[in-house]
Amino acid sequence: MLNEREAESCYLGQFIPLHYHHNMLMDSNRMQAFKTAIQHVVRPGAKVLELGGGTGVLSWFAAQQAEKVWCVEFNPDMVNEARRLLAQNPQGEKVEVIHADAFEYLPPEPVDVVICEMIHVAMLREKLLEVIANFKQRYLEKFGGLLPIFMPEAIIMAVQPMQQEYNFEGYSAPIVQFQETNAIYANSRQLAEPAVYSIIDFSAPIDMLISWQGSFSMTEDGNLNALRFITKNILSVLQQQSSTIDWLNHYMVLPLPSALQVKAGDIIDVSFRYRGGASIASLQNALQAVIRQPESITVHGEAVFA
Ligand SMILES: C[S@@+](CC[C@H](N)C(=O)[O-])C[C@H]1O[C@@H](n2cnc3c(N)ncnc32)[C@H](O)[C@@H]1O
Repeated sequence: MLNEREAESCYLGQFIPLHYHHNMLMDSNRMQAFKTAIQHVVRPGAKVLELGGGTGVLSWFAAQQAEKVWCVEFNPDMVNEARRLLAQNPQGEKVEVIHADAFEYLPPEPVDVVICEMIHVAMLREKLLEVIANFKQRYLEKFGGLLPIFMPEAIIMAVQPMQQEYNFEGYSAPIVQFQETNAIYANSRQLAEPAVYSIIDFSAPIDMLISWQGSFSMTEDGNLNALRFITKNILSVLQQQSSTIDWLNHYMVLPLPSALQVKAGDIIDVSFRYRGGASIASLQNALQAVIRQPESITVHGEAVFA
C-alpha cells in the first residue's frame, strides 16, 4: 500500500522508470551543461549533496573534485542502480547513495553545494521548488549559518503565442506537445516574441504560486491556438566571466481552450496561475487568452472605436 506522497509521486511521474533514465543520460545538452557547471562550482575537497540522484551521474560528476557526495534517492530501484553504476566508475566510492525522501533527509554535516535535477519545463510535475524551499528551512534550523550554493541557481520561464498544427493523419488532437529546443517544426509557427513570466532565484525565498498577466503584440497573422512554455535553468553563474551555464528544457506547447484569429499588431492579453510541482492539466486549465478590444470612446453619446 502506497502512502500519500508515494501515490502522488507515481501519479505525477516522480518515480521515473529506469528506461527513462537512459533518455536523460542520452540527452547531451543536459549532460554537458551539468558536467560543465559541476566542474565549475564544486571545488576540490568540497562536500556535496544531491537530491534525487537517479543513476548517480551528477553525483559522480561532483565526486571528481569533491571529498564527499551524499546522493539521496527515493526510488529503491534507482538506489540499487546508482550503487551498481557508481561501483563501476572511478571516484564512485566517494558517493554515498542514501535511500531517503528528499523532503526529509539532511546531510550529517554542512555542505558546500546542493544539486537537484527534479526539473520539468514550467516547473510542473517535478518538485524542485518545494524540495528546495523545504530543504532551506530544515538546513538552516539544523546548521544555521550560510546556505549552500544551489544548482540550478535560478530559473527563467517564458511563454510565447503559437499557431500549432493538431492534425494527425486526419485526426484532430489538440494535446500537450514537447519540442526539441534546437529544431524547427514545420507544424509550429511563432506569432509573437516570448515574454518572461517568472524568475526564480534559489538564494531568495521561493514562492510556490506562479501567476502571470501579460500581453503580446502579434508579429504575424495567424490562428493563435497554443502557448509555448520555455524554461531556462541557470545551472551556474560565472561571476568572473560575466556569463552563465544554462540548460534549456524541452519546450512544452499547450493548446488554448479556444483559438483566436489574430492579425499582426493585435494585442493579446494572456493570464494563467499554477503551483510549482502541479500537473500539466492544472496549467492548461488555467490558460486564458483574449484579443484586446480597441478602447471605446464616446462622441456625442455614440460609441466609436479609437
Ligand atoms: C529527473 S530525475 C534526475 C536523476 C539524476 N539526478 C540525473 O540527473 O540523471 C529525478 C530523480 O529524483 C528522484 N526523486 C523524486 N522525488 C524524490 C524525493 N522526494 N526524494 C528523493 N528522490 C526523489 C526520482 O526518483 C528521480 O530519480
